[in-house]
Amino acid sequence: MKFFIDTANLAQIKEANDLGILDGVTTNPSLMAKEGVKGNEAIMNHYKTICEMVDGDISAEVFSTDFDGIIAEGKKLAAIHPNIVVKVPMIKDGVKAIKWFTDNGIKTNCTLVFSAGQAILAAKAGAKYVSPFIGRIDDTNWDGVELIAQIAHIYTLQGFETEILAASIRSSLHIVKCAEAGADVCTCPLDSILGLLKHPLTDIGLAKFLEDAKKM
Ligand code: E4P
Repeated sequence: MKFFIDTANLAQIKEANDLGILDGVTTNPSLMAKEGVKGNEAIMNHYKTICEMVDGDISAEVFSTDFDGIIAEGKKLAAIHPNIVVKVPMIKDGVKAIKWFTDNGIKTNCTLVFSAGQAILAAKAGAKYVSPFIGRIDDTNWDGVELIAQIAHIYTLQGFETEILAASIRSSLHIVKCAEAGADVCTCPLDSILGLLKHPLTDIGLAKFLEDAKKM
C-alpha cells in the first residue's frame, strides 16, 4: 500500500518525506486555504514547490463544476509538473471530464466518493485514483472501511485498474484497517502516520535494552 500525506503544509510534507516512506501528496481547497495560499499564482507556485519536494503523485483539485471549466483548470494544473494528478469531484461533469483527461493522457483522482456506485463510475471513466472519504462516512454512522472493502472486491472482480485511495483518514487504526480492506493508497494526516510508530512495549523494551547496554 502506498502512503500519501493529506496536507498542503510544507513542513509536514518535509517531515513525512524525510521518513523515506512517502509516495505522494493530496491537497484540497480546504487544506490549501488553511495554509493561507491565496490567488492563482500562489496556488500554482505552492503545487510546484510540493512537486519539487516529493517524488510521487501530487493531487491538485479543480474548483470548477462545469465540464469546460474543469478541463481548462485541469490542463493548467497538469502543466505545472508531470506528477500532478488533477483532482475532480464526483459529479456528472466531473465524470465526463475524467474521461476526457484519461483520453488525453492526464492523470485524475476522483474525489468526494461515498458509494460503490460512484466508485464504479470513476473507474469506468478511467480515473487513476478513486477517493472514498472514510472518516466522513464514519461521521454519519456508516462504516467507511467497509466501503473500501466493497470497492476493492468490485474492482478485483471486474478487473478495474483504478487505484483505491482511502481518504479522510482520522487515525492510525484507520490506516491499518484500510490496508486490511484492500486500499491501494492511504492519504493520511501526519499524526496518523507517526501514530503507527507507537507501542508502549516498544518504549519499555527499548528503555531496558538501553539500560542493559550500559552493562555491556
Ligand atoms: C483527500 O484527498 C481528501 O480531500 C481529504 O482526505 C478529506 O479529509 P477530511 O474529511 O478530513 O476533510
